[in-house]
Amino acid sequence: MTTLRQNEDKTPHIIHGIEGLKRELSEKPLICLTGMRPTGKLHLGHYVGALRSWIEMEKIPNMRNYFLIADYQALGDYLDDPEKIRQSVVDIVIDWLSVGLDPKKSCFIVQSYVPEFAELAFYLNMFATYTEVMRNPTLKDEIAKIEKRETNNTLSMWFINYPISQVADILLPRGDIVPVWEDQVPHIELARKIIDRVNKKTGAHFPLPRALISETPRLVGIDGKDKMSKSLGNAIMISDSLAEIQKKVQKMYTDPHKTSIDAPGNTENHVVFMYLDIFHEDKNLIENLKVRYRAWGSDSIWDGEVKKLLVTTLDAFISPIREKRAYYEAHPQLIKAIIDEGAERFRSEAQEVLLELKSKMKILNYGG
Ligand code: TRP
Repeated sequence: MTTLRQNEDKTPHIIHGIEGLKRELSEKPLICLTGMRPTGKLHLGHYVGALRSWIEMEKIPNMRNYFLIADYQALGDYLDDPEKIRQSVVDIVIDWLSVGLDPKKSCFIVQSYVPEFAELAFYLNMFATYTEVMRNPTLKDEIAKIEKRETNNTLSMWFINYPISQVADILLPRGDIVPVWEDQVPHIELARKIIDRVNKKTGAHFPLPRALISETPRLVGIDGKDKMSKSLGNAIMISDSLAEIQKKVQKMYTDPHKTSIDAPGNTENHVVFMYLDIFHEDKNLIENLKVRYRAWGSDSIWDGEVKKLLVTTLDAFISPIREKRAYYEAHPQLIKAIIDEGAERFRSEAQEVLLELKSKMKILNYGG
C-alpha cells in the first residue's frame, strides 16, 4: 500500500482506471478529450482497452467528453492512401455508435473539420523545444519503425510534428483528462510541459492534462503472441460476422501440449480462456471449466468445447453491435449529420480558446 502511494505521488499526472477517476471527482466539471487515428475498423482490443471506459465516462454526470477522429494525424502516415482514411472516418463513427457511444452526450469531432486544431498546433510549435520533442520515446520508436520499412519509409515533417499537434487536440477543448494507452503517456507529459510553458510565458491559465490509463492490460491477439492489431492479422473486429468469429476462434492459440482429451492441460496463456475471462459473465463457470481443462480423465474437456463456448459468447456480444452497424451503414446521411454537427458545435468553443491564446500572446488587434 505504501509503495503504491509513493508511486502515485511520483506520477500525479497519471490516473489509474475509471475507479481512480471516480475517486477524484468533485463538483467541478471535468473535460475529457481522447481520440483515435482513422486507419481501419475497430477490434475487440479497442473495445476492452478504450471504448468500454469511454462508455463509462459518458455515464459520469460531471464529465464533458470529446472524442476525436484524428484524420490530420493519420495523414502523417497515410498521405498516399486518402481513401483508406475517408472510409475509416465513417467506419469509426459507425463503430462508436454501434457500441453505444452517444453523440448527444459526447461531442464526436473529426479533426480536419475544425481547422482551429491546425492553427493552435502552429502556435504551440513556438513553445515546444526541438530536444524535448525528439527525446519523446514513443515518437523515437515510431520513427525507427518507419525508417525500417521497405517502402513508404520517408518521414514527413508533419509526422515528427504530430506529438505537438496532439497537444493542440487536448488544449483546444481545455482537456483535463486524456484516456490513453500507456504508450501515449510521454505525449501527455509533453503536453503538460508545453502548456505549462504557455501559461508561464503568457500568463494564461490553461489546464494541465492528466492521462487516464486503463487498468486492464492490452488484449492479446488470437495468436497469443502480440497485442491485438489489425495489421498483424490477429484481430477480431467488433463488426465480424459469425463465420469470421468461428474461423478466428478456431485458429486461437491454446495449450499445444494438451494433445488428447485426457492429457492434463495448461490454462495459462490460453487465449480462449483469456477471452472467456473477459467476455463471459459467469466467472464461476469459467473457473470450473479451467479446472476440468487442467484435469485428466473422464471429467476433462478439450479445446473444442471451450472454443464453442467462446464463439457463442463473442457472437452474443458482437451481434447487437453488428445489427446497429447494419442500420447505420444503411443510413449514411445520419453519419454525415453527426460529423457536421459535432464540428459545428465544437468550433465556436474552439475559437474562444484560440482568441484567448492570441490575446495573451498579444498578436491581436495591431494598431488598435
Ligand atoms: N495518437 C492517438 C492514437 O494513436 C490518437 C490521438 C490523436 C489522441 N489525438 C489525440 C489520443 C489526443 C489522445 C489525445 O491512438
